[in-house]
Amino acid sequence: MEPASRVDKIPGPKGIPLIGAGLSLQRDLLGVLLRGLHTYGDIVGYPIGPKGPLRMTFVVVHHPDDIHPVMAQTERTVTKDTWVLRGMADLLGNGLLTSSGDEWKRQRRIVQPLFTPRHVDSYAALMAEEAARVATEPVPADHRIDLHLLMMRYTLRVVGRSLFGDAIEDLVPVLHQLVPELSDAAMRRGMQLVRVPLDRRTPRNRRPRRLREQEYALVDEVLSRSPAPGEPGYDSTRDDLVTRLREARDPQSGQALSEDEIRDQALIFLMAGHETTAGALTFTLHLLGRHPGIQDEVAAEIRAVLGDREAPDAGDLEKLPMTRAALMEGMRLYPSAHMTERLTTTPMTLAGYDVPPNTLVAVSPWTTQRHPGIWPDPERYDPSRFLGEHDRPRYAYFPFGGGPRSCVGEHFAMLEAMILLAALLRRHQVTSLSRELELVPNVTIRPAGAVPVALSPR
Ligand code: HEM
Repeated sequence: MEPASRVDKIPGPKGIPLIGAGLSLQRDLLGVLLRGLHTYGDIVGYPIGPKGPLRMTFVVVHHPDDIHPVMAQTERTVTKDTWVLRGMADLLGNGLLTSSGDEWKRQRRIVQPLFTPRHVDSYAALMAEEAARVATEPVPADHRIDLHLLMMRYTLRVVGRSLFGDAIEDLVPVLHQLVPELSDAAMRRGMQLVRVPLDRRTPRNRRPRRLREQEYALVDEVLSRSPAPGEPGYDSTRDDLVTRLREARDPQSGQALSEDEIRDQALIFLMAGHETTAGALTFTLHLLGRHPGIQDEVAAEIRAVLGDREAPDAGDLEKLPMTRAALMEGMRLYPSAHMTERLTTTPMTLAGYDVPPNTLVAVSPWTTQRHPGIWPDPERYDPSRFLGEHDRPRYAYFPFGGGPRSCVGEHFAMLEAMILLAALLRRHQVTSLSRELELVPNVTIRPAGAVPVALSPR
């Protein structure tokens, strides 16, 4: 076997002498990543920081075979405890997405059972109600709507009602504004190379502090609307996620989560479950709106299964393979969570290179799901890639991540998205009024502006 080469020998751009490639990654992350794959191949090294001993190599692996060891590992070899994530946790709290180590393990043991398909399917009825509301809403006289706005509203209402029950009507407009602002602020804080603790009243901390106070106050306000355990009137049989979090116990220690921990989890579900699913729906419908032939096939399948019903229930979804394939192909081209990073904690060999401990290694569904060696004609929207049998490596397609830190909300998101697609396409023909979408890669990929479509009756 060939001896492995050093990490700084990994092919990649040289970057600007004094600062490396950090700036170009910040300016055009999606373009730089994709050009990296096409120019340098399956592993790319980006020099970060000034030349000399302070310079680091930021490694991006694009091939499924090399993604596997990064994602499938436990915290013995890689960790999510990075500078970026800690900065984000300052704003978003210490829930499942932002924690690491033993703290994360304990949280995952408690939270995971709440997201089994059996539990999640019990939210199908409220998802169907919300989807029918979107589908039956009067369309403006010119038929034009902003798809992204509509989907953001749908997913916020679904995740909000699933978490807190029905008592959130008055908070929807506030959350609608606050959640994306908070996610932007968390990302900005994560990316700051130098930062002072958030409790310090510096000018730079002013906005994130205000947002954090607003969000905590808001979630505390919703939580206080129903009695907590031990208070008169507490109902342990309610099936909203917050009650289930309050009732959940760590299978190892028997311990419950504290009220502060429940607030942090609720906040993480709001953040992780809102823009991601809205993006998956927006991009899929935009693509279907540009491919009327495929859309007709999907709509015919939906009509055959639903008949006169406005929206499907959980049991209908397995009868909608074309709808599912349309969604999966939408998430192939536009994976909401476009990149994730791990810090190595032991030496690893990736694609023939020795990667030492403390190296930041990233994987990106955005690039791998367009890898020309795996996906023929990668830019073409073709849901048939997901019909029938196919023989692809595990990490050829990973919009929900993988391994121990995979998305806990995957079944929830798929159910929610399928129900909306079925309800909307049963009634409406969607026509995209824009060709290409400009994208902003924040915590998730987001369209830069409105996504105009025309809705006409089918
Ligand atoms: C289409 C929609 C969604 C996509 C594409 C998505 C994607 C992802 C990905 C890729 C990860 C792993 C990140 C990493 O490896 O660093 C993740 C983690 C997570 N997601 Fe999702 N997600 C979606 C919807 C949801 C929903 C609806 C919820 C909850 C209601 C949710 C909750 C979470 C949580 C709590 C984690 C952290 C899991 C852990 O670290 O143990 N997600 N998601």
